[in-house]
Amino acid sequence: MDQLFHVYPLFDLTPVSATGCELATADGSQYLDLYGGHAVISVGHSHPHYINCLTRQLEQLVFYSNSVQSPLQKELAHRLTAYSGYTDYKVFLVNSGAEANENALKLASFSNGRSKVVAFSGSFHGRTAGALAVTDNPKLRAPINTQDQVLIHPWNQIEGLEQVLSNRDVSAVIIEGIQGISGIHVPSPDFMQQLRDLCDGYGTYLILDEIQSGYGRTGKFFAHQHTGIKADIITMAKGMGNGFPIGGVLISPDFEAVPGQLGTTFGGNHLGCTAGLAVLDILEREKLLDNAASIGTYLKSQLQDITEIKEVRGEGLMLGFTLSFKVKALREHLLHKEKIFVGSSSDPYTLRLLPPLCVNRSQVDLFIESLKKSLKHEELLINK
Ligand SMILES: Cc1ncc(COP(=O)(O)O)c(C=O)c1O
Repeated sequence: MDQLFHVYPLFDLTPVSATGCELATADGSQYLDLYGGHAVISVGHSHPHYINCLTRQLEQLVFYSNSVQSPLQKELAHRLTAYSGYTDYKVFLVNSGAEANENALKLASFSNGRSKVVAFSGSFHGRTAGALAVTDNPKLRAPINTQDQVLIHPWNQIEGLEQVLSNRDVSAVIIEGIQGISGIHVPSPDFMQQLRDLCDGYGTYLILDEIQSGYGRTGKFFAHQHTGIKADIITMAKGMGNGFPIGGVLISPDFEAVPGQLGTTFGGNHLGCTAGLAVLDILEREKLLDNAASIGTYLKSQLQDITEIKEVRGEGLMLGFTLSFKVKALREHLLHKEKIFVGSSSDPYTLRLLPPLCVNRSQVDLFIESLKKSLKHEELLINK
């Protein structure tokens, strides 16, 4: 009996337990996890501190609504703003990435009274109505989601943007810190700085979607911090709870909090905040941002030495590499024969690596050896 509404292509394997970067399946096999379940596992599977914090909170209080005081929310907001360097910003807590973007777009529009938004080619911002409208994938959009308020501008291209923003009717520009699903594309610092200036010049808010690229993944707390700019609104989720669903919106002091304007039943719940705090504890104590930077640099250089690889892109532990053939068969081979999870992307020639931030050098070496071995299988190197 299977009454699930099947919308996901599934691998035929069933993880039952995990620690660090290792996953075990029901049949007793061990897998190296270099994908973290779509970049969600930040501090590693089953970290003892994470488990202790959540277990203690579970025994104390699981949930009460957002109509009461929550010291956990306050602590999370304080720690998050301090660690990310956005000390004068405020935090609105939600449950997922799409919900974070939905609230960011809404807040921008409430604040400047405008309704148009600019997003970029290759973008993915989630599957709720507003987030989908700024996602560059018409296949995901139902007729009810069709609207004409969004302009999709070419990625990483400043030309033409001033003309669009100079009408002063664009509420926000939304951009990923590093594009993830499109196959890992890093915006240039020049482009980001010019984008910042244009937004300032025309009263348009700049929203940074750091849902995949944030939370230390690139070696800095947010990927856009490599470019020297600040955003007006930053959205996050994925690594924030290491598997517990929590998201957040970081909001500049220019915005006024209007009671009742935003809201959520589950956002900021006690378990989510506890997970969020445990993640920050571990990131700090184990210096995982430094690990992401140094292991990421090592992994990138190892990939660049493989002749079959045409290009390696990304920062820290958010890497994509492109081959001259479609990578579906290679990914499946890595999973089933080498027992290593890697990610695909919307580019059929590109694989993504988004491992837990605690991945170590010997795990990277194991992957590189397995990849080199797999690339000797000629039947994998064809376009299918
Ligand atoms: C950059 C980016 N934004 C938004 C989302 C949507 O997040 P969620 O699936 O938590 O709604 C994703 C998910 O993959 C993402 O990668």
